[in-house]
Amino acid sequence: MPAIVLIGAQWGDEGKGKVTDLLGERVEYVVRYQGGNNAGHTVILPDGRRFALHLMPSGVLTPGCTPVIGNGVVIDPKVLLGEIDSLTERGIPCERLMISADAHLIMPHHRAMDRVVERYLGSARIGTTGRGIGPAYGDKVARVGIRVQDLLDPGILRQKLELVLREKNQVLVKVYNRKAIDVGAVTEEYLSYAQRLRPYITDTRLELARALERGATVLLEGAQATLLDVDHGTYPFVTSSNPTAGGACVGSGIPPTRITGVIGVIKAYTTRVGSGPFPTEQFDAIGEHLRKVGMEYGTTTGRERRCGWFDAVVARHAVRVNGITDLVVTKLDVLSGLEKVPICVAYEVDGERVDELPMTQTAFHHARPVYEEHDGWWEDITKCRTVQELPDNARRYVERIEELSGSRVSVIGVGPGREENVLLHPLPP
Ligand code: GDP
Ligand code: IMO
Ligand code: MG
Repeated sequence: MPAIVLIGAQWGDEGKGKVTDLLGERVEYVVRYQGGNNAGHTVILPDGRRFALHLMPSGVLTPGCTPVIGNGVVIDPKVLLGEIDSLTERGIPCERLMISADAHLIMPHHRAMDRVVERYLGSARIGTTGRGIGPAYGDKVARVGIRVQDLLDPGILRQKLELVLREKNQVLVKVYNRKAIDVGAVTEEYLSYAQRLRPYITDTRLELARALERGATVLLEGAQATLLDVDHGTYPFVTSSNPTAGGACVGSGIPPTRITGVIGVIKAYTTRVGSGPFPTEQFDAIGEHLRKVGMEYGTTTGRERRCGWFDAVVARHAVRVNGITDLVVTKLDVLSGLEKVPICVAYEVDGERVDELPMTQTAFHHARPVYEEHDGWWEDITKCRTVQELPDNARRYVERIEELSGSRVSVIGVGPGREENVLLHPLPP
Protein backbone atom coordinates (compact mmCIF):
# COMPACT_ATOMS: atom_id res chain seq x y z
CA MET A 1 0.00 0.00 0.00
CA PRO A 2 2.75 2.59 0.62
CA ALA A 3 3.84 5.05 -2.04
CA ILE A 4 7.14 6.79 -1.30
CA VAL A 5 8.39 9.89 -3.07
CA LEU A 6 12.10 10.49 -3.65
CA ILE A 7 13.10 14.01 -4.65
CA GLY A 8 16.17 16.18 -5.11
CA ALA A 9 16.38 18.93 -2.51
CA GLN A 10 18.73 21.34 -4.33
CA TRP A 11 19.38 22.02 -8.04
CA GLY A 12 19.69 18.42 -9.23
CA ASP A 13 22.40 15.75 -9.36
CA GLU A 14 22.17 15.07 -5.65
CA GLY A 15 22.56 11.32 -6.23
CA LYS A 16 18.89 10.37 -6.61
CA GLY A 17 19.73 7.42 -8.88
CA LYS A 18 22.00 5.92 -6.26
CA VAL A 19 19.37 6.26 -3.53
CA THR A 20 16.65 4.64 -5.67
CA ASP A 21 19.08 1.81 -6.27
CA LEU A 22 19.81 1.60 -2.54
CA LEU A 23 16.12 1.03 -1.77
CA GLY A 24 16.42 -1.91 -4.12
CA GLU A 25 14.23 -4.93 -3.70
CA ARG A 26 11.98 -3.34 -1.09
CA VAL A 27 10.34 -1.50 -3.97
CA GLU A 28 8.23 -3.24 -6.59
CA TYR A 29 7.53 -0.29 -8.88
CA VAL A 30 9.74 2.73 -9.60
CA VAL A 31 7.81 5.50 -11.34
CA ARG A 32 9.30 8.53 -13.09
CA TYR A 33 6.64 11.24 -12.83
CA GLN A 34 8.10 14.30 -14.61
CA GLY A 35 10.97 15.57 -16.73
CA GLY A 36 12.48 13.73 -19.64
CA ASN A 37 15.93 13.00 -20.95
CA ASN A 38 17.24 16.21 -19.38
CA ALA A 39 17.83 13.95 -16.36
CA GLY A 40 21.00 11.94 -15.87
CA HIS A 41 21.07 9.47 -13.00
CA THR A 42 24.25 7.52 -12.33
CA VAL A 43 24.02 4.15 -10.63
CA ILE A 44 27.02 1.96 -9.84
CA LEU A 45 26.19 -1.68 -9.18
CA PRO A 46 28.11 -3.78 -6.64
CA ASP A 47 29.91 -5.51 -9.55
CA GLY A 48 31.34 -2.10 -10.52
CA ARG A 49 29.22 -1.56 -13.64
CA ARG A 50 28.24 2.09 -14.07
CA PHE A 51 24.93 3.06 -15.67
CA ALA A 52 23.84 6.56 -16.71
CA LEU A 53 20.05 6.57 -17.00
CA HIS A 54 18.10 9.38 -18.65
CA LEU A 55 14.49 8.35 -19.23
CA MET A 56 14.47 4.89 -17.77
CA PRO A 57 13.53 4.82 -14.07
CA SER A 58 16.51 3.73 -11.95
CA GLY A 59 14.51 0.72 -10.69
CA VAL A 60 15.20 -1.04 -14.01
CA LEU A 61 18.50 -2.14 -12.46
CA THR A 62 16.79 -3.99 -9.62
CA PRO A 63 15.73 -7.53 -10.53
CA GLY A 64 11.98 -7.97 -10.11
CA CYS A 65 11.24 -4.24 -10.04
CA THR A 66 8.86 -2.75 -12.62
CA PRO A 67 9.98 0.58 -14.11
CA VAL A 68 7.10 2.92 -14.99
CA ILE A 69 7.19 6.10 -17.06
CA GLY A 70 4.23 8.09 -15.79
CA ASN A 71 1.87 10.49 -17.55
CA GLY A 72 3.86 13.51 -16.33
CA VAL A 73 7.02 12.61 -18.26
CA VAL A 74 7.91 13.93 -21.72
CA ILE A 75 9.39 11.16 -23.86
CA ASP A 76 11.81 11.40 -26.74
CA PRO A 77 11.05 7.98 -28.24
CA LYS A 78 14.36 7.67 -30.09
CA VAL A 79 16.26 8.29 -26.87
CA LEU A 80 14.11 5.85 -24.92
CA LEU A 81 14.55 3.10 -27.52
CA GLY A 82 18.30 3.74 -27.53
CA GLU A 83 18.32 3.39 -23.77
CA ILE A 84 16.31 0.14 -23.91
CA ASP A 85 18.74 -1.25 -26.50
CA SER A 86 21.87 -0.33 -24.62
CA LEU A 87 20.52 -1.68 -21.31
CA THR A 88 19.45 -4.92 -23.01
CA GLU A 89 22.91 -5.28 -24.58
CA ARG A 90 24.43 -4.96 -21.13
CA GLY A 91 22.22 -7.75 -19.77
CA ILE A 92 19.55 -5.59 -18.11
CA PRO A 93 16.09 -6.81 -19.12
CA CYS A 94 13.59 -4.04 -19.92
CA GLU A 95 10.46 -6.04 -20.83
CA ARG A 96 8.70 -5.04 -17.65
CA LEU A 97 8.80 -1.34 -18.56
CA MET A 98 5.39 0.38 -18.61
CA ILE A 99 4.86 3.65 -20.44
CA SER A 100 1.81 5.81 -19.80
CA ALA A 101 -0.40 6.28 -22.85
CA ASP A 102 -0.93 9.85 -21.60
CA ALA A 103 2.73 10.88 -21.48
CA HIS A 104 3.65 13.54 -24.03
CA LEU A 105 6.20 13.08 -26.80
CA ILE A 106 9.18 15.26 -27.52
CA MET A 107 8.99 16.03 -31.25
CA PRO A 108 11.69 17.37 -33.63
CA HIS A 109 10.11 20.85 -33.48
CA HIS A 110 10.55 20.86 -29.68
CA ARG A 111 14.26 20.18 -29.95
CA ALA A 112 14.60 22.80 -32.70
CA MET A 113 12.70 25.42 -30.67
CA ASP A 114 14.72 24.70 -27.51
CA ARG A 115 17.94 25.44 -29.40
CA VAL A 116 16.80 28.57 -31.26
CA VAL A 117 15.05 30.12 -28.27
CA GLU A 118 18.16 29.69 -26.11
CA ARG A 119 20.25 31.34 -28.81
CA TYR A 120 17.70 34.14 -29.09
CA LEU A 121 17.77 34.75 -25.32
CA GLY A 122 21.54 35.38 -25.48
CA SER A 123 22.94 36.27 -22.07
CA ALA A 124 19.48 35.74 -20.54
CA ARG A 125 19.47 32.08 -21.63
CA ILE A 126 18.41 29.39 -19.16
CA GLY A 127 21.25 27.04 -20.06
CA THR A 128 18.84 24.21 -20.87
CA THR A 129 19.97 20.73 -21.76
CA GLY A 130 18.73 21.36 -25.33
CA ARG A 131 16.56 18.26 -25.26
CA GLY A 132 13.28 20.01 -26.13
CA ILE A 133 11.87 19.76 -22.61
CA GLY A 134 10.47 23.30 -22.25
CA PRO A 135 8.79 23.42 -25.68
CA ALA A 136 7.25 19.94 -25.14
CA TYR A 137 5.70 20.98 -21.81
CA GLY A 138 4.66 24.30 -23.39
CA ASP A 139 2.71 22.45 -26.08
CA LYS A 140 1.20 20.12 -23.48
CA VAL A 141 -0.25 23.05 -21.56
CA ALA A 142 -1.26 24.82 -24.78
CA ARG A 143 -3.15 21.62 -25.71
CA VAL A 144 -1.31 21.02 -28.96
CA GLY A 145 0.94 18.28 -27.60
CA ILE A 146 1.25 14.84 -29.11
CA ARG A 147 0.88 11.95 -26.71
CA VAL A 148 2.16 8.39 -26.59
CA GLN A 149 -1.35 7.12 -27.38
CA ASP A 150 -1.33 9.07 -30.64
CA LEU A 151 1.36 6.68 -31.85
CA LEU A 152 -1.31 3.98 -31.85
CA ASP A 153 -3.47 5.82 -34.38
CA PRO A 154 -1.52 6.80 -37.54
CA GLY A 155 -4.39 8.95 -38.87
CA ILE A 156 -4.61 10.99 -35.67
CA LEU A 157 -0.82 11.28 -35.41
CA ARG A 158 -0.58 12.78 -38.89
CA GLN A 159 -3.57 15.04 -38.35
CA LYS A 160 -2.19 16.43 -35.08
CA LEU A 161 1.25 16.91 -36.57
CA GLU A 162 -0.16 18.76 -39.57
CA LEU A 163 -2.05 21.06 -37.29
CA VAL A 164 0.79 21.87 -34.95
CA LEU A 165 3.49 22.13 -37.62
CA ARG A 166 1.39 24.57 -39.60
CA GLU A 167 2.08 27.08 -36.84
CA LYS A 168 5.53 25.88 -35.64
CA ASN A 169 6.97 25.91 -39.15
CA GLN A 170 5.87 29.51 -39.63
CA VAL A 171 7.74 30.41 -36.45
CA LEU A 172 10.83 28.35 -37.26
CA VAL A 173 11.09 29.76 -40.80
CA LYS A 174 9.90 33.34 -40.41
CA VAL A 175 11.11 34.22 -36.92
CA TYR A 176 14.18 32.05 -36.51
CA ASN A 177 15.27 31.54 -40.11
CA ARG A 178 15.34 27.73 -39.76
CA LYS A 179 14.19 25.02 -42.16
CA ALA A 180 10.56 23.87 -42.05
CA ILE A 181 9.93 20.41 -40.62
CA ASP A 182 8.34 17.91 -42.98
CA VAL A 183 5.08 16.39 -41.70
CA GLY A 184 5.39 13.21 -43.75
CA ALA A 185 8.94 12.45 -42.66
CA VAL A 186 8.18 13.00 -38.98
CA THR A 187 4.99 10.91 -39.15
CA GLU A 188 6.93 8.06 -40.72
CA GLU A 189 9.78 8.33 -38.23
CA TYR A 190 7.43 8.31 -35.23
CA LEU A 191 5.34 5.44 -36.58
CA SER A 192 8.52 3.36 -36.76
CA TYR A 193 9.04 4.05 -33.03
CA ALA A 194 5.40 3.21 -32.39
CA GLN A 195 5.89 -0.38 -33.51
CA ARG A 196 8.65 -0.93 -30.99
CA LEU A 197 7.03 0.98 -28.13
CA ARG A 198 3.58 -0.59 -28.44
CA PRO A 199 4.22 -3.53 -26.04
CA TYR A 200 5.14 -1.13 -23.23
CA ILE A 201 2.21 1.28 -23.56
CA THR A 202 -0.21 0.90 -20.66
CA ASP A 203 -2.83 2.69 -18.58
CA THR A 204 -0.18 3.18 -15.89
CA ARG A 205 -2.42 4.98 -13.42
CA LEU A 206 -4.79 2.03 -13.34
CA GLU A 207 -1.87 -0.42 -13.04
CA LEU A 208 -0.43 1.57 -10.14
CA ALA A 209 -3.80 1.83 -8.38
CA ARG A 210 -4.17 -1.93 -8.61
CA ALA A 211 -0.61 -2.49 -7.44
CA LEU A 212 -1.16 -0.30 -4.37
CA GLU A 213 -4.44 -2.07 -3.69
CA ARG A 214 -2.55 -5.41 -3.67
CA GLY A 215 -0.13 -4.00 -1.13
CA ALA A 216 2.81 -3.37 -3.46
CA THR A 217 5.38 -0.69 -2.60
CA VAL A 218 5.71 2.06 -5.18
CA LEU A 219 8.58 4.53 -5.34
CA LEU A 220 7.96 7.79 -7.17
CA GLU A 221 11.38 8.85 -8.43
CA GLY A 222 11.83 12.54 -9.12
CA ALA A 223 14.18 13.92 -11.73
CA GLN A 224 15.72 17.41 -11.45
CA ALA A 225 14.99 18.96 -8.06
CA THR A 226 13.14 21.39 -5.81
CA LEU A 227 14.93 24.57 -6.89
CA LEU A 228 14.42 23.61 -10.54
CA ASP A 229 10.65 23.26 -10.01
CA VAL A 230 8.69 25.57 -12.30
CA ASP A 231 6.54 26.73 -9.34
CA HIS A 232 8.78 26.39 -6.30
CA GLY A 233 12.21 26.96 -7.84
CA THR A 234 14.30 29.86 -9.06
CA TYR A 235 12.01 30.79 -11.96
CA PRO A 236 12.77 31.38 -14.82
CA PHE A 237 15.99 29.42 -14.27
CA VAL A 238 14.14 26.16 -13.78
CA THR A 239 12.95 23.17 -15.74
CA SER A 240 9.41 23.12 -17.10
CA SER A 241 7.87 20.55 -14.75
CA ASN A 242 7.17 19.96 -11.04
CA PRO A 243 9.87 17.76 -9.50
CA THR A 244 8.55 18.56 -5.99
CA ALA A 245 6.55 15.95 -4.07
CA GLY A 246 3.17 17.34 -5.15
CA GLY A 247 4.18 16.75 -8.76
CA ALA A 248 4.52 13.06 -7.99
CA CYS A 249 0.74 12.72 -7.61
CA VAL A 250 -0.08 14.69 -10.74
CA GLY A 251 2.57 12.96 -12.82
CA SER A 252 1.58 9.43 -11.84
CA GLY A 253 -2.12 9.56 -10.97
CA ILE A 254 -1.41 8.28 -7.45
CA PRO A 255 -3.52 10.25 -4.94
CA PRO A 256 -1.89 12.25 -2.10
CA THR A 257 -3.59 10.05 0.52
CA ARG A 258 -1.41 7.13 -0.62
CA ILE A 259 1.93 8.88 0.00
CA THR A 260 3.45 7.72 3.27
CA GLY A 261 6.98 9.08 3.08
CA VAL A 262 9.10 11.63 1.23
CA ILE A 263 12.84 11.04 0.95
CA GLY A 264 14.87 14.14 0.15
CA VAL A 265 18.29 13.64 -1.40
CA ILE A 266 20.71 16.45 -0.64
CA LYS A 267 24.42 16.86 -1.31
CA ALA A 268 26.76 17.78 1.55
CA TYR A 269 27.61 20.83 -0.60
CA THR A 270 25.74 22.42 -3.53
CA THR A 271 25.95 22.18 -7.31
CA ARG A 272 24.01 23.65 -10.17
CA VAL A 273 24.16 23.28 -13.98
CA GLY A 274 23.00 26.07 -16.28
CA SER A 275 22.21 29.69 -15.45
CA GLY A 276 20.51 31.29 -12.48
CA PRO A 277 21.23 32.51 -8.96
CA PHE A 278 23.37 30.38 -6.66
CA PRO A 279 24.29 32.31 -3.49
CA THR A 280 26.95 29.93 -2.11
CA GLU A 281 28.77 29.37 -5.42
CA GLN A 282 32.57 29.25 -5.10
CA PHE A 283 34.61 30.51 -8.03
CA ASP A 284 38.09 29.91 -6.61
CA ALA A 285 40.15 26.87 -5.62
CA ILE A 286 37.32 25.61 -3.39
CA GLY A 287 34.88 25.41 -6.31
CA GLU A 288 37.55 23.64 -8.35
CA HIS A 289 38.26 21.22 -5.48
CA LEU A 290 34.59 20.28 -5.15
CA ARG A 291 34.29 19.85 -8.93
CA LYS A 292 37.41 17.68 -9.23
CA VAL A 293 36.97 15.52 -6.12
CA GLY A 294 33.17 15.28 -6.54
CA MET A 295 33.54 14.65 -10.29
CA GLU A 296 30.94 17.33 -10.90
CA TYR A 297 30.47 17.10 -14.63
CA GLY A 298 26.98 16.66 -16.07
CA THR A 299 25.77 13.11 -16.72
CA THR A 300 23.62 14.35 -19.61
CA THR A 301 25.51 17.22 -21.24
CA GLY A 302 29.03 16.79 -19.80
CA ARG A 303 28.96 20.45 -18.71
CA GLU A 304 30.99 21.50 -15.66
CA ARG A 305 28.67 21.83 -12.68
CA ARG A 306 28.89 25.06 -10.70
CA CYS A 307 29.94 24.20 -7.13
CA GLY A 308 29.57 25.83 -3.72
CA TRP A 309 28.94 25.37 -0.01
CA PHE A 310 25.91 23.77 1.62
CA ASP A 311 22.95 26.14 1.76
CA ALA A 312 20.64 25.50 4.72
CA VAL A 313 18.12 28.10 3.49
CA VAL A 314 17.62 26.00 0.37
CA ALA A 315 17.43 22.84 2.51
CA ARG A 316 14.72 24.31 4.75
CA HIS A 317 12.71 25.39 1.73
CA ALA A 318 12.98 21.89 0.26
CA VAL A 319 11.98 20.21 3.54
CA ARG A 320 8.93 22.47 3.80
CA VAL A 321 7.74 22.35 0.19
CA ASN A 322 8.11 18.58 -0.12
CA GLY A 323 7.24 17.49 3.40
CA ILE A 324 10.50 15.58 3.57
CA THR A 325 10.43 12.84 6.23
CA ASP A 326 13.99 11.56 5.69
CA LEU A 327 17.06 13.23 4.28
CA VAL A 328 19.85 11.35 2.55
CA VAL A 329 22.99 13.48 2.67
CA THR A 330 25.23 12.38 -0.21
CA LYS A 331 28.89 12.94 -1.04
CA LEU A 332 30.11 13.76 2.47
CA ASP A 333 33.36 12.04 1.44
CA VAL A 334 34.01 14.85 -1.06
CA LEU A 335 34.48 17.33 1.81
CA SER A 336 37.29 15.30 3.43
CA GLY A 337 40.59 17.18 3.45
CA LEU A 338 39.17 20.70 3.61
CA GLU A 339 40.32 22.84 6.50
CA LYS A 340 36.98 24.60 6.94
CA VAL A 341 33.51 23.58 5.79
CA PRO A 342 31.22 26.60 6.07
CA ILE A 343 27.43 26.21 6.03
CA CYS A 344 25.21 29.01 4.77
CA VAL A 345 22.61 29.51 7.52
CA ALA A 346 20.86 32.66 6.21
CA TYR A 347 21.20 35.39 3.59
CA GLU A 348 21.84 39.06 3.71
CA VAL A 349 19.59 40.85 1.24
CA ASP A 350 20.16 44.57 0.70
CA GLY A 351 21.57 44.94 4.23
CA GLU A 352 18.95 42.82 5.98
CA ARG A 353 19.30 39.29 7.30
CA VAL A 354 16.74 36.82 5.96
CA ASP A 355 16.41 33.27 7.22
CA GLU A 356 14.18 31.91 4.48
CA LEU A 357 14.14 31.99 0.69
CA PRO A 358 13.33 35.59 -0.30
CA MET A 359 9.85 36.16 -1.66
CA THR A 360 10.99 37.71 -4.92
CA GLN A 361 13.48 36.52 -7.49
CA THR A 362 15.07 39.99 -7.52
CA ALA A 363 15.86 39.68 -3.81
CA PHE A 364 17.22 36.17 -4.37
CA HIS A 365 19.59 37.56 -6.98
CA HIS A 366 20.84 40.01 -4.31
CA ALA A 367 21.20 37.36 -1.59
CA ARG A 368 24.63 37.12 0.01
CA PRO A 369 25.29 34.04 2.16
CA VAL A 370 25.75 34.31 5.92
CA TYR A 371 28.16 31.53 6.84
CA GLU A 372 28.76 29.52 9.96
CA GLU A 373 32.30 28.12 10.05
CA HIS A 374 32.91 24.46 10.82
CA ASP A 375 36.24 22.70 11.16
CA GLY A 376 36.91 20.09 8.53
CA TRP A 377 38.36 16.58 8.81
CA TRP A 378 41.23 14.87 7.08
CA GLU A 379 40.32 11.22 7.36
CA ASP A 380 39.15 9.13 4.41
CA ILE A 381 35.56 8.30 5.39
CA THR A 382 34.63 6.05 2.47
CA LYS A 383 34.95 2.90 4.61
CA CYS A 384 32.75 4.23 7.45
CA ARG A 385 29.45 2.38 7.83
CA THR A 386 28.29 3.59 11.24
CA VAL A 387 27.99 7.10 12.56
CA GLN A 388 30.45 6.28 15.38
CA GLU A 389 33.15 5.59 12.79
CA LEU A 390 32.87 9.10 11.31
CA PRO A 391 35.38 11.73 12.47
CA ASP A 392 33.84 14.01 15.14
CA ASN A 393 33.87 17.04 12.84
CA ALA A 394 32.11 15.17 10.03
CA ARG A 395 29.45 13.94 12.46
CA ARG A 396 28.93 17.42 13.84
CA TYR A 397 28.64 18.81 10.31
CA VAL A 398 25.80 16.40 9.48
CA GLU A 399 24.11 17.03 12.84
CA ARG A 400 24.15 20.73 12.03
CA ILE A 401 22.59 20.06 8.60
CA GLU A 402 19.87 18.11 10.39
CA GLU A 403 19.19 20.94 12.87
CA LEU A 404 19.18 23.67 10.27
CA SER A 405 17.09 21.86 7.66
CA GLY A 406 14.37 20.60 10.01
CA SER A 407 14.35 16.98 8.86
CA ARG A 408 16.14 13.99 10.29
CA VAL A 409 19.09 12.64 8.33
CA SER A 410 18.60 8.92 7.79
CA VAL A 411 21.49 8.03 5.48
CA ILE A 412 24.88 9.59 4.76
CA GLY A 413 26.58 8.82 1.44
CA VAL A 414 30.33 8.31 1.72
CA GLY A 415 31.02 7.08 -1.81
CA PRO A 416 29.25 6.40 -5.12
CA GLY A 417 28.83 2.64 -4.59
CA ARG A 418 25.61 1.00 -3.38
CA GLU A 419 27.29 -0.06 -0.12
CA GLU A 420 29.06 3.22 0.58
CA ASN A 421 26.63 4.62 3.14
CA VAL A 422 26.28 5.29 6.83
CA LEU A 423 22.80 4.25 7.95
CA LEU A 424 21.26 6.16 10.85
CA HIS A 425 17.57 5.30 10.50
CA PRO A 426 15.79 2.86 8.19
CA LEU A 427 14.41 4.60 5.12
CA PRO A 428 10.69 4.31 4.40
CA PRO A 429 8.73 2.19 3.64
P1 GDP B 1 21.09 12.33 -9.84
O1 GDP B 1 20.82 13.07 -11.10
O2 GDP B 1 20.49 12.97 -8.63
O3 GDP B 1 20.75 10.86 -9.92
O4 GDP B 1 22.67 12.42 -9.61
P2 GDP B 1 23.84 12.19 -10.73
O5 GDP B 1 23.95 10.74 -10.99
O6 GDP B 1 23.65 13.11 -11.89
O7 GDP B 1 25.09 12.77 -9.94
C1 GDP B 1 25.47 12.26 -8.69
C2 GDP B 1 26.90 11.68 -8.81
O8 GDP B 1 27.43 11.46 -7.52
C3 GDP B 1 26.96 10.34 -9.50
O9 GDP B 1 28.13 10.27 -10.26
C4 GDP B 1 26.99 9.33 -8.36
O10 GDP B 1 27.65 8.13 -8.70
C5 GDP B 1 27.77 10.10 -7.34
N1 GDP B 1 27.45 9.82 -5.93
C6 GDP B 1 26.23 9.57 -5.36
N2 GDP B 1 26.35 9.46 -4.02
C7 GDP B 1 27.66 9.66 -3.73
C8 GDP B 1 28.43 9.71 -2.51
O11 GDP B 1 27.91 9.57 -1.41
N3 GDP B 1 29.76 9.97 -2.63
C9 GDP B 1 30.38 10.16 -3.85
N4 GDP B 1 31.70 10.41 -3.86
N5 GDP B 1 29.69 10.12 -5.00
C10 GDP B 1 28.36 9.88 -4.95
P1 IMO C 1 18.87 15.32 -12.77
O1 IMO C 1 17.59 14.52 -12.79
C1 IMO C 1 20.74 19.23 -13.05
C2 IMO C 1 18.73 22.19 -15.59
C3 IMO C 1 19.43 22.65 -16.84
C4 IMO C 1 18.92 24.08 -16.94
C5 IMO C 1 17.47 23.94 -16.47
C6 IMO C 1 16.46 23.84 -17.59
O2 IMO C 1 20.04 14.59 -13.31
O3 IMO C 1 19.09 15.92 -11.42
P2 IMO C 1 15.81 21.91 -19.28
O4 IMO C 1 16.62 21.18 -20.32
O5 IMO C 1 15.23 21.00 -18.24
O6 IMO C 1 14.79 22.82 -19.87
O7 IMO C 1 16.86 22.88 -18.53
O8 IMO C 1 17.43 22.77 -15.66
N1 IMO C 1 18.55 20.74 -15.47
C7 IMO C 1 19.25 19.96 -14.63
N2 IMO C 1 20.27 20.26 -13.80
N3 IMO C 1 20.25 17.98 -13.09
C8 IMO C 1 19.21 17.67 -13.89
O9 IMO C 1 18.58 16.47 -13.86
C9 IMO C 1 18.68 18.67 -14.75
N4 IMO C 1 17.69 18.72 -15.67
C10 IMO C 1 17.60 19.98 -16.08
O10 IMO C 1 20.83 22.61 -16.69
O11 IMO C 1 19.60 24.89 -16.03
MG1 MG D 1 21.86 13.98 -12.67
